[in-house]
Amino acid sequence: MQIDPTQYIRQIIRNVPDWPKPGVTFRDITPVLQDPRSFRVLIDLFVYRYMGQKLDLVAGVDARGFIVGSVLAYELNLGFVPVRKKGKLPFNTVAEEYSLEYGNASVEMHTDSVRPGQRVLLIDDLIATGGTLLAAARLLQRLGANVVEAAAIIDLPELGGSKAVTDSGLSVYTVCS
Ligand code: PRP
Ligand code: ADE
Repeated sequence: MQIDPTQYIRQIIRNVPDWPKPGVTFRDITPVLQDPRSFRVLIDLFVYRYMGQKLDLVAGVDARGFIVGSVLAYELNLGFVPVRKKGKLPFNTVAEEYSLEYGNASVEMHTDSVRPGQRVLLIDDLIATGGTLLAAARLLQRLGANVVEAAAIIDLPELGGSKAVTDSGLSVYTVCS
């Protein structure tokens, strides 16, 4: 079977109107994960992009960035570190606040999750305003990491997030919009 990987994934992503609040169309990736073919196609797209690149760690953002990030780290033979929502990590943490398409939040990392100079791929499921990835990148940079790229499955370019992340000096890769 011949498939265009990006199209294949795009058509499986589910748009949920007015969730979590009126006016927001939530891009739900759970069908992509549920379908074994699209899950594999998705991970393989990231593997093809990053295999052979000089990387030390994958940092995945709570919560869906954990799913793709941990599988990708395993496939690339890299370690995985979580960027968690506030109050979930048990050890010493650093935190960064940010604003979302629908509210405010903060993310945290363990202070020992990255060593200075380590080359880190940052990954999440989606870029909307870019606030989450920018906050995660700031955390990683405070810990001395070199953020090689910020990656996501979906870009919502109309919300300006990928441009904001690029404007901050980071390289951005997304599978589809
Ligand atoms: C979603 C998504 C990203 C973030 C993107 O997570 O998974 O992490 O929003 O938005 P931004 O580009 O405007 O920062 P959400 O904050 O809804 O949390 P969840 O993972 O707990 O669902
Ligand atoms: N995070 C912020 N906006 C979102 C959206 N429209 N769909 C999924 N996650 C999001």
